[in-house]
Amino acid sequence: MRVLGISGSLRRDSYNSGLLRAAADVLPSGVELEVFDGLKAIPPYDADDDVEPAPAAVTALREAVAAADAVLVATPEYNASIPGVLKNALDWVSRPHATNPLRGKPAAVVGASTGMFGAVWAQAEMRKVLSTIGARVVDMELPVPEGAERFDASGTLVDAEVREQLGEVTAALVEAAEIRAAGLAARAAA
Ligand SMILES: Cc1cc2nc3c(=O)[nH]c(=O)nc-3n(C[C@H](O)[C@H](O)[C@H](O)COP(=O)(O)O)c2cc1C
Repeated sequence: MRVLGISGSLRRDSYNSGLLRAAADVLPSGVELEVFDGLKAIPPYDADDDVEPAPAAVTALREAVAAADAVLVATPEYNASIPGVLKNALDWVSRPHATNPLRGKPAAVVGASTGMFGAVWAQAEMRKVLSTIGARVVDMELPVPEGAERFDASGTLVDAEVREQLGEVTAALVEAAEIRAAGLAARAAA
């Protein structure tokens, strides 16, 4: 099973990218996490450019989502919402709406911030956006506040409690992906 991780931060020592690296450690054996690293190359969404072939960076993201059994988004909070680069990338993935690769795909959202609330608003917005696109969003959140106390200088998670909570969120995501895979297999066999 493959989980695609998408961090909404482009920052080198990002706490949110650190959350994804930690998620790779806590996933059950047999589940791989691939982190998408092409967010910065995705152009601003323009419907006039949304034709075949799509821009290469967009195709890379669409294909990575399509190849994954589930998606884990780690989002910072920018001005009480999600970063523009992340929203822009998902806008590209969402088209065409009826056949977009997130449709029906299990997804979970976590988030870290430097403030006291752990990106809870951004996570809520991210769940709303993913649901609108058609993903099956796990009804859990993982607010990681005061990042400087939970990550070291290079963005590695050093907080055991957060690591445990991350294990719970990723376990729920994997369970949702297993249920979906069983449903798809049953439908294919019928
Ligand atoms: C443009 C901008 C807006 C921000 N707005 C918020 C905010 O609304 N709430 C919050 O808790 N932190 C806010 N922050 C601080 C982020 O939580 C902090 O930069 C965090 O470390 C970003 O995540 P990263 O470490 O993954 O890059 C903001 C940061 C930036 C750059």
